Amino acid sequence: MKAIVCEAFGPVDELQYKDIADPVVKAGHVVVNIEAAGVNFPDGLLVQGLYQMQPPFPFIPGNEVAGTIAELGEGVNHLKVGQRVIALPLLGGYAEKALVPATHVMPLPDSIPANEGAALVTAHATAHHALKQRAKLQPGETLVVTGAAGGTGLAAVQIGKIMGAKVIAVCSTEEKLALAKANGADVLINYTENDLKDALKEATGGKGADVVYECVGGDTFHACSRSMAWEGRLLVVGFAGGEIPKFPVNLSLVKGYSVVGVFWGSFTQHDPKGFAANMQELLGWYVQGKVKVVVDEALPLSRATEAMEKVMNRQVKGKMVVTP
Ligand SMILES: NC(=O)c1ccc[n+]([C@@H]2O[C@H](COP(=O)([O-])OP(=O)(O)OC[C@H]3O[C@@H](n4cnc5c(N)ncnc54)[C@H](OP(=O)(O)O)[C@@H]3O)[C@@H](O)[C@H]2O)c1
Repeated sequence: MKAIVCEAFGPVDELQYKDIADPVVKAGHVVVNIEAAGVNFPDGLLVQGLYQMQPPFPFIPGNEVAGTIAELGEGVNHLKVGQRVIALPLLGGYAEKALVPATHVMPLPDSIPANEGAALVTAHATAHHALKQRAKLQPGETLVVTGAAGGTGLAAVQIGKIMGAKVIAVCSTEEKLALAKANGADVLINYTENDLKDALKEATGGKGADVVYECVGGDTFHACSRSMAWEGRLLVVGFAGGEIPKFPVNLSLVKGYSVVGVFWGSFTQHDPKGFAANMQELLGWYVQGKVKVVVDEALPLSRATEAMEKVMNRQVKGKMVVTP
């Protein structure tokens, strides 16, 4: 089969598009014929050796796919060959086939196209877990989302609205803000043209934000850390801007707010039942039209490095997908 293979940590354009052996099915697993794979910011970090996880070489990046079941391993009784599924391999998504633990495979409703199914999980499931289990977001609270037109930022805008929050979207361009607005954002802040701390003060009437979904890091994190309401929750989601901020903890003491880490991949391992319940709720919201996947572009697998570079270079609105 064709796959995108990482043989050493390095720039994204050093990834190899090549023929490798098909995965062999084993007990408790399935082999999936991949129709589409979601591209996420962490994929680019992973192949450069900049991510929390550092897999042995060679490896295939990609942790979310949609397709059909090709083979069932021993002991897998709840799925069948040919069934449409969403599958979450830890690695291996940028390929024509992937071996996936059966626990991380779920039926894909016929109404969801493969491109959207592949892009529905990581970004939305991270936002869902963050706002539900980590922030315990309440109706009427103010939610600030940074990088709000990115994959997981746009998902947080949509899910924040479902949960009844007033959503303040923070983006770098008017085009991105328009997309956040079309997905439900109530207040728009362009943080390349305005001082973010002042703009958040004005947008919250001086009270500060109850919850911040912070994906960017650096100065953006610092501005948010000075814009929190009493008993607020500042969610540490990512550092797309490249700088992991250092945080003066006295701010949290003085303002009485919490800094809350979010790691969706670990959540799926630590709490498989919670993960399954969240996925059921998320797929229900999709089928009811309450959440949607905005696929900016789908590129062929052979151009996966281009897709990853677009994500890393701030050029994507919503999600990028690759198709074998
Ligand atoms: N904690 C978790 O479990 C988890 C799960 C998934 C993703 N993440 C993290 O969340 C972050 C966003 O992931 P994503 O897949 O949504 O990425 P994405 O689609 O690329 O969105 C990231 C957004 O960050 C903003 N940004 C600001 N400075 C940037 C820079 N120098 N380069 C690139 N983007 C920049 C961009 O919005 P503007 O142009 O509007 O500023 C961009 O839309 C990443 O750091 C990722 O690692 C964490």
